[in-house]
Amino acid sequence: MSSNGLSRKVAIVTGASRGIGRAIALALAAEGAAVLANYVRDRTAADHVVADIQARGGRATVVKADVSIAKEAAALFEAAEAAYGPVDILVNNAGLAHYAPIRDYDEKDFDHLFNVNVKGPFLMCREAAGRLTDGGTIVNITSTVTRVMLPRYGVYAATKAAVEQLTRALAKELGDRQITVNAVAPGPTDTALFRHGKSDDQIAAMAQAAALQRLGLPEDIADVVVFLATPAARWVSGQCLPVNGGFA
Ligand SMILES: NC(=O)c1ccc[n+]([C@@H]2O[C@H](COP(=O)([O-])OP(=O)(O)OC[C@H]3O[C@@H](n4cnc5c(N)ncnc54)[C@H](OP(=O)(O)O)[C@@H]3O)[C@@H](O)[C@H]2O)c1
Repeated sequence: MSSNGLSRKVAIVTGASRGIGRAIALALAAEGAAVLANYVRDRTAADHVVADIQARGGRATVVKADVSIAKEAAALFEAAEAAYGPVDILVNNAGLAHYAPIRDYDEKDFDHLFNVNVKGPFLMCREAAGRLTDGGTIVNITSTVTRVMLPRYGVYAATKAAVEQLTRALAKELGDRQITVNAVAPGPTDTALFRHGKSDDQIAAMAQAAALQRLGLPEDIADVVVFLATPAARWVSGQCLPVNGGFA
């Protein structure tokens, strides 16, 4: 375990059971942070993440919560505080994707996506605003799709654009307590969410569209999130950082 200034820090990572959230939980724990790993459906996967962290000498606990429900979002903070003390780092990673042309987009899918992708981070940020330690860090995981014009991605991109605006406002609101608030915007990253519904040819084309000519790995994103949580990033706030290998 290296020492990067996170050894006495407490972190909540939403959607930590797999994909990018799993990598973020592992990376924060590797730097010494105690991690509350949240999931909503897949307890087994979340338990594996916690077991992996503990096997490497780290501290982690798992808590089920639907981040789009206010009392469950609050319960995540209560659980983290009870286990480890006040929370220093919040990573709003939990998210869903559903793609369709706007003409065909079902209203229920729209509501569901906005509930999880926007209301979830909003509820967690609202809770964090009153509970995060001075000097703490919030990182919202958005997406490179806010920077490109992709058919079928309109509603998904709109959810991520909404979170980027929350990020900018919250950075101003919490700056007097030296809390940094940033967004990290991954490009195509090799996870279940990314692969779902795509052919091998589509995946290969998206990989080649990055300047670095491959898909991102969850660890590529996690390393940047860890950086934003360290003292080295103390002067970075209110920003949306594309982490996409030069995709856009
Ligand atoms: N992969 C990409 O190419 C890519 C690109 C740009 C941005 N992103 C963003 O990065 C984030 C992670 O994506 P991913 O690819 O790692 O996705 P993933 O593999 O599908 O994982 C999603 C995670 O979110 C959790 N989750 C879903 N709904 C939740 C809810 N209501 N409350 C709490 N947790 C919930 C899931 O928990 P369960 O396992 O319990 O269901 C899971 O841990 C998302 O915000 C996504 O929009 C991904």
